[in-house]
Amino acid sequence: MIKVKKRKMLLLPGDGIGPEVIVEVKKIIEWFNKNKSLDFEIDEDLVGGSSYDKHGTPITDEVFYKALESEAVILGAVGGPKWDDLEFSKKPERALLKLRKELKLFANLRPAICFKQLVNASSLKPEIVSGLDIMIVRELTGGIYFGEPRGIKLVDNGERKGINTHVYTSNEIQRVAKVAFDLSKKRNNKVTSCEKSNVMEAGQLWKEEVQALHDKEYKEVKLEHMLADNCAMQLLRNPKQFDVIVTDNLFGDILSDEAAMLTGSLGLLPSASLGAKDKNGNIRSMYEPVHGSAPDIAGKGVANPIATILSFAMALKYSLNLDKEADKLEKAVQNVLDDGLRTKDILSKGTKEVSTTQMGDAIISKLK
Ligand code: IPM
Ligand code: MG
Repeated sequence: MIKVKKRKMLLLPGDGIGPEVIVEVKKIIEWFNKNKSLDFEIDEDLVGGSSYDKHGTPITDEVFYKALESEAVILGAVGGPKWDDLEFSKKPERALLKLRKELKLFANLRPAICFKQLVNASSLKPEIVSGLDIMIVRELTGGIYFGEPRGIKLVDNGERKGINTHVYTSNEIQRVAKVAFDLSKKRNNKVTSCEKSNVMEAGQLWKEEVQALHDKEYKEVKLEHMLADNCAMQLLRNPKQFDVIVTDNLFGDILSDEAAMLTGSLGLLPSASLGAKDKNGNIRSMYEPVHGSAPDIAGKGVANPIATILSFAMALKYSLNLDKEADKLEKAVQNVLDDGLRTKDILSKGTKEVSTTQMGDAIISKLK
């Protein structure tokens, strides 16, 4: 067998159910290494609360540089009640935000696909969600998550004031809109851009810049503008009207959780965070499930590893140019669902409950 070049990946399991779901991805990577003449070199390290417990910081410089040097980072989840009372800069979430910001991962792709086997797992009627396939493109390095000034300040009368700033430049808006338009051309050619242009200047700028880019470079794509509150409502009323949704950091955070539930469970949704191409045509990237660390079910062996496994499939596709392998992995997940195997979060009548490990093993057996 001819071995292809080594592909460096960094696994950051993190907190809560993160380590449990990352173990399943590791098994899959090992399977690909053994059976598909691929050569993934995997390194693994601490991030979030688990890093804080050992090193007193949610991410060490060493781990940060490892992330900079790898072709793709696969992250489990960070955070949990144990670390809720830490000072802001030490909170587990800061690690995630630092990685996003400093790796310049400005475009976060969150596909919400309702698998036919799971139409009954959604809390919406089957006819509303069956066949659903939307892509949320969330801006990830700007907006109110990072805007300055920020902080909690003492004001004259002894009151405290919490400040965050929602701010976008035209370049920040256009580069993420470009990702959305390009994706839509490979899909159904429709982009819905969401903001609150009725109350925020930054929202008005968002709308104008997306429209300007459209008129200049993407006339063939159907563009629609929608207020974010209306979008939240439309996602429940008629989600299949959407193809690609592009929106800012905060609205994207909220709308993607909502879209996740249309598919049945947060445990199914992968995500890819992508940066710009460097001069060699490579992009920095990080892959993570949309679900969080779910401390309430951590350690019980019931977490759904599918979102993380599908995140790895996105890494194969977007970072490593291994489309065939990505398809194979996605098909294996489908086949396991066809067999009626379900983790607790997607269990329904007539299906069989399996643990996190059993789900991972079943997916591997379908790869064979
Ligand atoms: C997400 C999460 C994060 C976010 C948290 C954990 C900081 O909710 O990725 O959607 O708010 O972006
Ligand atoms: Mg979120």
